Amino acid sequence: MRSGLVVLSVFALVLSGFRIKSGEKNYEDFKPHMRAVYASLVTIFPLALNTRSFTSKDNNKAIQENLNLIAQHAKEINTLAAKDEKGHAYLSLQLERNARQAALKYKDGLHDQAHFFVEELYDTCLSCHTSRSSSTDSAFTMDLSKNLDLDAMGTFGKAKFLALSRQFDRALDEYERIFKSQDLSLEELMHFDPLVDYLVLAVRVKGDADRPLKTIAELQKRPLPGPVKHDLEAWQKSLKQVKSRPKKQSDLEFARTLMKDVNRDRMSLVNTIFASKYLKDHLKRANISAKDKAETYYQLGICELSIGESLLAGESGMYLEESIRLAPKASFAKRAFELYEESVTLGYTGSAGINLPVEEKARLDELRKLVF
Ligand code: HEC
Repeated sequence: MRSGLVVLSVFALVLSGFRIKSGEKNYEDFKPHMRAVYASLVTIFPLALNTRSFTSKDNNKAIQENLNLIAQHAKEINTLAAKDEKGHAYLSLQLERNARQAALKYKDGLHDQAHFFVEELYDTCLSCHTSRSSSTDSAFTMDLSKNLDLDAMGTFGKAKFLALSRQFDRALDEYERIFKSQDLSLEELMHFDPLVDYLVLAVRVKGDADRPLKTIAELQKRPLPGPVKHDLEAWQKSLKQVKSRPKKQSDLEFARTLMKDVNRDRMSLVNTIFASKYLKDHLKRANISAKDKAETYYQLGICELSIGESLLAGESGMYLEESIRLAPKASFAKRAFELYEESVTLGYTGSAGINLPVEEKARLDELRKLVF
């Protein structure tokens, strides 16, 4: 009896091992396009650091050509990613849109607007590269960025650039160097909020709880205001909880546990970052039921709402919508709809009241009908 069970569970383990592998996508087809957009970005980056060089006639041709190239490749990337998990598909669409707008505005001499879209472009690269666990650093970008003056990029500019270049270890080193250094003022820590970006990298990309635990212990040696202290203590607790995760729990089960007492506040941040990692890992499995998939998207929607960094704006609505479409009669569908409605409405609320575009209103009506 006993040995039968052992054989069975070994068999199940082997099976699930295979399942994870076969469900995982291989991104080789992305790489030529990624390398091309990166090469163009490295050319534009130093020229976009100040207005004078961004608008200078001498740089005009190089900037325009490279923005056009990025827009072309972004289109290809969007075609490839359109078949992916929803988050990827969404971000690749953003990439295409930002690239196209940057190229168009630059061509029309609208430099301020072009610059805005270039910045958005960096953020899109960064969001996508940190949206899923993939711990392999790129050897390719290491070579290309060698000649860049990374130190000219401001306090956190270098760390962000390294992260968007998929130099994750070097980005983490850089954040830790800054956190340790005496130069980092409390104002900078509060204003730029680098801890969120750091935690996303350490936790979601690298799946590493030890590094941030050390960093937090280091930060706690400084005199800190009460609210920051409380955040750090809560994050420490979450990181320890993840380290003692019960082995038998599936990714979705563990994510549920992490999300149980989550509020949309900063103390819940580490729980939601970890939960979103496990939920995305769960989505990579080939054979999950529609209902589990719907719940996974629902939980992801809540995660993105509570992480709420500019990096991930917009993703939550898309997750919630997908969740509703997959299982409109599930117990969580009504709540998903409420959250969806709230985030869409907020997105279109301005000084003149709510201004929902027609297609957005039609989508809301359609989803409401499905759920109620
Ligand atoms: C839709 C998601 C997505 C967006 C948006 C995105 N990337 Fe990527 N990128 C990927 C994936 C997936 C890989 C492959 C990762 C792997 O090795 O598993 C990748 C890999 C890379 C690589 C490594 C290539 C190599 O051969 O090592 C570079 C460089 C890169 N991306 C640059 C960029 C730049 C620059 C941007 C923004 C202009 C960007 N990416 C936007 C998903 C994205």
